[in-house]
Amino acid sequence: MSGPRVPLFDLRLAPEDLAAVEGVLRSGWLSMGPRTQAFEEAFADHLGVRHALATSSCTAALHLAYLAAGVGPGDEVIVPAITFVATAAAARYCGAEPVLADVLGPHDLGVDPADVEARITPRTRAVCVVHFGGYTAAVEPLRELCAARGLALVEDAAHAPQTAPAGLAGTFSFFANKVLSCGEGGLLATQDDEVAALVRSRRSHAMTSGTWDRHRGHAAGYDVTALGFNYRMDEVRAALLASRLPRLQEDIAARRRLVRRYRTLLAGIDGLTVPYRDDEVECSACYVMPVLVDEPAWRDPLREALSARGVQTSVLYPAVHEFTAYAGSAPGGLPRSERIARTELTLPLYPHLAAGDLELVVQALDDGLRALRP
Ligand SMILES: Cc1ncc(COP(=O)(O)O)c(C=O)c1O
Repeated sequence: MSGPRVPLFDLRLAPEDLAAVEGVLRSGWLSMGPRTQAFEEAFADHLGVRHALATSSCTAALHLAYLAAGVGPGDEVIVPAITFVATAAAARYCGAEPVLADVLGPHDLGVDPADVEARITPRTRAVCVVHFGGYTAAVEPLRELCAARGLALVEDAAHAPQTAPAGLAGTFSFFANKVLSCGEGGLLATQDDEVAALVRSRRSHAMTSGTWDRHRGHAAGYDVTALGFNYRMDEVRAALLASRLPRLQEDIAARRRLVRRYRTLLAGIDGLTVPYRDDEVECSACYVMPVLVDEPAWRDPLREALSARGVQTSVLYPAVHEFTAYAGSAPGGLPRSERIARTELTLPLYPHLAAGDLELVVQALDDGLRALRP
């Protein structure tokens, strides 16, 4: 496929990944079954958690996490304004309203615990923190805050497949461009047996037995015990994920090396802020390479200049309360999130990004900023 010279993201699968998928296609069993269970066990081991439950997406896992937190009609869920919209949308799936909180600022794009605290009302039921870009958010202060106020803490770890949840549940994404990807897929991890039981049931129509159980003669019929959903993963995706999981640490190590190189080269360029500290890179999954320009007016022309040099960029993220559907979710505005939404651009990053291509990106950025700076 032809595209930009340096794409934002690129995927390379190994021969064993293709063989794993072919094996499923030849097996005669495609929906949630033994391969899904094997992947769940491997991912639970990888995180060091009791339960890992595969779902059709991270959005589905977020919906189930909020339900497990007891979120229902009339409730509020506090989420950061700088996130993918799914973090907020899943609250509405439960009949609740997302309340958006500001992020810490240009050096840390995670939610600000003090702003979360200021937005708690008698209707607040849960707080969801996002490990932006794979960098661990301020979980400890939020865990203490939630414990003191009787709230559930959910962690949207869509960007952070290496981060075990400290709160009620963590949700993961295996969407096509994620650090560990299979196309569409997600997972909920938890230490809590009751949360696991609820998620296991609700992800498959709240049926008391699944098709795989019946296929093996473990159950003849089934009851439906609650309102459930079809949030199942299928065997093709589970097999692809199980095949790729043993190489996840290697992929993250390659991403960290590239981020270190970016940070060294970008340090010499005026007009830019590179979020996070060097030591934080060493614990991050390095899902993306965000940078912030000093002037909002530079951002879009800079993206165009990069595009003209064959460098693809994106914006992570527009602020959620600035979308039409979420206007009113942050009365009074969120100045730090709004500034980030206007000054952030995300540079290409994937484990096999060539050194010369990374240098080309930095050179194009430097040239673009020189043309824009007064
Ligand atoms: C922070 C965040 N949360 C949730 C999601 C939703 O993930 P999925 O596409 O697997 O539903 C994404 C995916 O882009 C994300 O980046």
